[in-house]
Amino acid sequence: MNKNIDLCVSAHSFQEEELRDKVTVVIDVLRASSTIVTALNSGAKGIIPVQDMDAAGKISINLDSPNFLLCGEKDGKKIEGYDLGNSPAEYSPETVKGKTIIFKTSNGTQAIKRSTMSKEILVGTFLNLQSVLNRLREVENDIVLVCAGWKGRLALEDMLCAGNIAHELTGGHLPGDASDGVKVAFGLYEKFGNDIENTLRNSNHAKRLDHITENDDISYCSQLNTMDVLPTLKEGIITDANGKK
Ligand code: MLT
Repeated sequence: MNKNIDLCVSAHSFQEEELRDKVTVVIDVLRASSTIVTALNSGAKGIIPVQDMDAAGKISINLDSPNFLLCGEKDGKKIEGYDLGNSPAEYSPETVKGKTIIFKTSNGTQAIKRSTMSKEILVGTFLNLQSVLNRLREVENDIVLVCAGWKGRLALEDMLCAGNIAHELTGGHLPGDASDGVKVAFGLYEKFGNDIENTLRNSNHAKRLDHITENDDISYCSQLNTMDVLPTLKEGIITDANGKK
């Protein structure tokens, strides 16, 4: 493979300019990427990621409410007055089909908003890994895997998913000149990639979510290749580039 792969460990671990001309995959396994993939798979028309509640409020105030849902979390919990939180289990076809979702999360939507200098922005997680790999194999530009992390820190589940992508793209052979981030993610995947669910269950964020969500989001988000969805950000809105729905 002649294109380079790089990795950022959290939403705030890079300068936005570094992503210019790159194809970026934003990875927030628990749970923003998994929720975005699920919402699109359930027939949501699109997702407008926002960095904070102020931006979400400003957008929603000008919109025709039956067609829009205001969604997201603060510290993992649904925000008061919002239609939905950030559990993928809430994003069923009955609830989201045909709707545009204004979406604010603590780290995932920040990582997306900070990636807008990229040539192309995809949203990836285990649920749609194959769709992301198919696209990455087609592109000619260098690739950056942006892990959302948690408040500037590394998140195990995002690194594991990034490692899975790097492993697949390199045919399991770590290039000698791989960046430190790719080396760490690759090694993590080699060690724990055969037990994604347990690895996620033992992550810091799974412990946080334990007290927050009644749904089994961890098992759900551990599933591999259940959705042929390719969330792609264009002009501020994420839609499914595989778009059959
Ligand atoms: C985030 O953006 O940090 C996460 O999606 C938080 C969550 O699990 O709700």
